[in-house]
Amino acid sequence: MKNTSKMPPVNGKISIAPSILSADLCQLGKDVDAVREADWLHVDIMDGHFVPNLSFGPSVIYALKNRTPLALDTHLMVERPLDFIEAFAVAGADLLTVHAEAQHVENAIKRIKDFGIKAGLSVKPDTNPETIKPFLGELDLILVMSVYPGFGGQSYLPQSTSQIQAVRQLIKHSGRAIWLEVDGGINLETAPLAVRAGADALVAGNAVFKTADPALALSQIRQAAAGN
Ligand code: DX5
Ligand code: ZN
Repeated sequence: MKNTSKMPPVNGKISIAPSILSADLCQLGKDVDAVREADWLHVDIMDGHFVPNLSFGPSVIYALKNRTPLALDTHLMVERPLDFIEAFAVAGADLLTVHAEAQHVENAIKRIKDFGIKAGLSVKPDTNPETIKPFLGELDLILVMSVYPGFGGQSYLPQSTSQIQAVRQLIKHSGRAIWLEVDGGINLETAPLAVRAGADALVAGNAVFKTADPALALSQIRQAAAGN
């Protein structure tokens, strides 16, 4: 299948991906329109097993695809990614990130690439970053969790900074262009910490959508991430 992913290659800029987990779901379309200046839209998929929470299915990806031109950065917090990759790829995900702690990671990454979309791998806060090493040759993105996954609105864990630095070194040694995205507790204070440690993509949920003006919050996070 030909590659139709809208996710751009690494471009030296900091990408900001608002997470719709924190949006007002009664007016999801309106909230998504408010963040049209974002780079990507982050969509958290939870299965109630890998994390103790449930969120969205492929129909939400399909609905978003018809609403926004933003690339859909889809984070699969699921125990058995192989069961879901086809449905999310067909629905319109531009990137599918699976967890290093999930089942059949190697096959899952291969399956994602077979659908012609970008593949990401995520590590939870206590997972050794070295776990990603065997997969570096196939990956487009590595997602460092800076909170324990499952819920929005948590605080950035201080140990995330060294986790990000370690992943940045692994990417450097791989010689490949791979996005380094950080997810959890990103706000005006923590965005610069993550970027200084080596992040070039930031997810922000509460810090964007639980504010009176998501568009303004997004642009302020972008400025903070750029060090202004
Ligand atoms: C947490 C999710 C995050 C979450 C981030 O399990 O993976 O993407 O939406 O939300 P904030 O930015 O509020 O921590
Ligand atoms: Zn996420």
